[in-house]
Amino acid sequence: MIKAAVCGLGIGMAHCAGYLESEHAELVAVCDRMPERLASVGGTFAAGSMLVLKPLFEPQMLTRSWEEIGVRTYHSLDELLEDEEVELISLCTPDYLHARQAQQVLDAGRHLLLEKPVALDMGRGKSVVLAGAQAERRGIRSGIGYEFRRNPAVRRVKSLVDEGAVGTIHACSIYHYRQPFRRDKWNRWIQERSKSGGLIVEETSHWFDLARYLLDREISTVHAVVTDRIHPDFDYEDIAFINATFADGAILQISHALTGFDFSLVMTIHGSAGTIWCAFKETRKSALDARQTDYIANVAWGPLNGTPEEGRFETFGDEAGEPETIRENVKTFAACVAEGRPVPCTLSDGLAALEASLAAGVAAHRNGVVNLDAEPLE
Ligand SMILES: NC(=O)c1ccc[n+]([C@@H]2O[C@H](COP(=O)([O-])OP(=O)(O)OC[C@H]3O[C@@H](n4cnc5c(N)ncnc54)[C@H](O)[C@@H]3O)[C@@H](O)[C@H]2O)c1
Repeated sequence: MIKAAVCGLGIGMAHCAGYLESEHAELVAVCDRMPERLASVGGTFAAGSMLVLKPLFEPQMLTRSWEEIGVRTYHSLDELLEDEEVELISLCTPDYLHARQAQQVLDAGRHLLLEKPVALDMGRGKSVVLAGAQAERRGIRSGIGYEFRRNPAVRRVKSLVDEGAVGTIHACSIYHYRQPFRRDKWNRWIQERSKSGGLIVEETSHWFDLARYLLDREISTVHAVVTDRIHPDFDYEDIAFINATFADGAILQISHALTGFDFSLVMTIHGSAGTIWCAFKETRKSALDARQTDYIANVAWGPLNGTPEEGRFETFGDEAGEPETIRENVKTFAACVAEGRPVPCTLSDGLAALEASLAAGVAAHRNGVVNLDAEPLE
């Protein structure tokens, strides 16, 4: 069993749930700056944070101390790295710490599952990728937490694309409407662009990664418009509308808003022989469909020039939820490290998603198109 540790106990609690369930890894240590998160296994939830992750744990486990379940606690990454038993670290700290801490973990010879984004700028992102490549030569594995690749509904979409169910793909759209980011983050890091990268780097990078993954091609040009006029306590955009092209001329549109009272994620994929539509809700019952359905995700597909009756569909339950998907991604990463298989998402994938995201920010600022083939970002 690989001895795993989690650094950062916000979304990191979903990583803990993954290692606690893994057949290939064992959780031996956790690390955080907030004493209440180290006070007990349920400390993060007891303080009212990340409640959406609470169902990933048995209720009786939450009242126990980490030590009682055999997990050592540390207050800093330096201390954690002194624990020689730890072989793999999930780094789930605020975004602005990722590049420096990822280097530290890799230099110390530990496998690394880094939460996204890889860094906040290309220079540091490239350094992390280089450190990952050097570590790989010493048998140290690394990956990044764009977990949607492991979502069962997304995997169904991917298999439809790969088996040619809708022909050659020429266009993709991703529409994401959600509540603002939670304001209970450590030191309010997520509300400042200098610490989170802003909406596009912090979260739209997921959708650039998903588009690259589903269409299996690279983003080429990016244009974006944004507004930052809605939430004054976030110093960056609340909404981004992005148009992009892939290297082969296929087109991509992303609409991303942090101004919702509920959550919706809808993807469409348009091929020469048909269309795929995939929609997610956050919970089974949602105001956004008049509380009429009780699934989390629906994948529907049909032929070109088809009728609604010809459409086929497959629905997905809680296993398609975000907490479950992050847990699944962690288990898959541990299995890939244990079995020497390719990881679901590499640090290089993380760099490509970062580059497209930064390009969208530049495009919005200059109100023009950024052509990544002609002017790769430094
Ligand atoms: N993949 C996803 O879908 C997903 C979802 C949510 C968050 N995230 C990512 O996870 C990371 C954490 O986000 P969060 O929402 O959990 O934030 P958070 O603020 O709730 O948690 C971060 C934790 O890191 C701890 N921390 C801060 N500095 C530290 C340090 N130097 N050493 C050790 N611990 C430290 C804080 O005490 C805090 O408990 C971010 O990079 C975010 O982008 C990813």
